[in-house]
Amino acid sequence: MNKLSKFCCELEKHAEIKPQIFLSSATGYRARAEFGFSKNSYTMMESEQKIYMDKSSIPHPSIQEIMPDLLIQINKSKLILKKLFQINFRTSGTHVLATLIYHKPLQEDWILAAKDIQNNFKNLSLIGRSKKQKVLVDKEDLEVINNDANSSFKILQNDLVFFQPNFYLYSLMISFISKQLEDPRDLLELYCGCGGFTLPLASKFNKVFATENNRHSIRLLKESIKLNNLSNIETARLSDNETASALANERSFRRLENIDIQSYEFSHILVDPPRAGLSDETITLSKQFKNMIYISCNPESFLRDIVKLDREIVSIGIFDQFANTQHLEVIAFLK
Ligand SMILES: C[S@@+](CC[C@H](N)C(=O)[O-])C[C@H]1O[C@@H](n2cnc3c(N)ncnc32)[C@H](O)[C@@H]1O
Repeated sequence: MNKLSKFCCELEKHAEIKPQIFLSSATGYRARAEFGFSKNSYTMMESEQKIYMDKSSIPHPSIQEIMPDLLIQINKSKLILKKLFQINFRTSGTHVLATLIYHKPLQEDWILAAKDIQNNFKNLSLIGRSKKQKVLVDKEDLEVINNDANSSFKILQNDLVFFQPNFYLYSLMISFISKQLEDPRDLLELYCGCGGFTLPLASKFNKVFATENNRHSIRLLKESIKLNNLSNIETARLSDNETASALANERSFRRLENIDIQSYEFSHILVDPPRAGLSDETITLSKQFKNMIYISCNPESFLRDIVKLDREIVSIGIFDQFANTQHLEVIAFLK
C-alpha cells in the first residue's frame, strides 16, 4: 500500500470527508538540498541513495544550474577543499545560498578564496561554517518572492531557519488555506517560522499575532513585515508553551511588553509544529478557539493529536511534498 492510501485508510477512522490530494513533480522541486562532500564530489547519505538513486535532479533548477560549476571552482582551491564535508543549498527561485561546512576553523584567507569563487557567479552567495563559527562572503538573507493570484510578498529567509521545502506546493498550500477561511477576524499563529504563512495570510485577517521560538526566524519575520509595509502583524519569540502561558495570563513576558494580547478577537488558531507534533499545553490552548488550522509534516503525530484534539475535521488537504519518500504534509481545518 502506498503512503497516500495508507494515510487515507487511517484518516477514515477519524473523519468521513474525502481529502484533496496535491501532487508534486518528482524533479526540480526542492528549494533546499543538502549534500555531503567527499573525494572532490557531492555525496548522498546511504539512506538517501536507496530513495533517490540520483539526488542531483531533485533541487530547484536554479540550484541544479550552479552545482556543477561550483564543484569545478571548489576543486581548484586547496584552501576551500581542505576539511570541507558538507554543502547545503537553498534558493529564492533565482538567487542561491550555498553553505560550505568544515571540520576546521575558517580564517580571513578562506573569505578571500570564497570571494574569488563567488565572483564567477551572478546568483550565488557563499557562507562558511564550522563549529561555533559562521563566515559571510556577502549577504546571508534570501528574499523569496511569493506570488499568489492577488498579491506578491517578499519573505526573508536564511540558512538558520526553516523554510517550506517544496517550491511548487508552497503556493498551493497558501491558496488551500485562503479559500477555506470562514468568518476570519484575528489569527493566533504558533510555530510561525520566518513567516512563510504569516505574511501571505495576513491580508485575510484583521490582525495576526505570530509566535515562534527561533530568534533568527523572528528577526527575519520582523524585517519582512517592514519590507512589505504590513501593519496588522505582531510577533514575539515565544515557545508554544510560553504562548499558552501568556494567553492564559499565567506568566508575563518582557518580550510581550509592547503587545496587548487582550485586544485580540481571535477567530482562528493556526499551528505548524515540527515532526513531534503539538505539546499538551498547545492542545489545551487550542480548545479556546472556534476554528483551528493544523499544518503537519508528520502524519503519525497528526493522527495522534487529532484524537487528543477531539474536533470535527471539516476539510483536509494532503500535499506530497517529497515524491518517492514516505513523507506527507497535511493541512486540516478543524471546527
Ligand atoms: C515546520 S516549521 C514551520 C515554520 C513556518 N510555519 C513555515 O512554514 O515556514 C516548525 C517551526 O516551529 C519552530 N519550533 C520548534 N519547536 C518549537 C517550540 N517548542 N515552540 C515554538 N516554536 C517551535 C521551529 O523553529 C520552526 O520554525
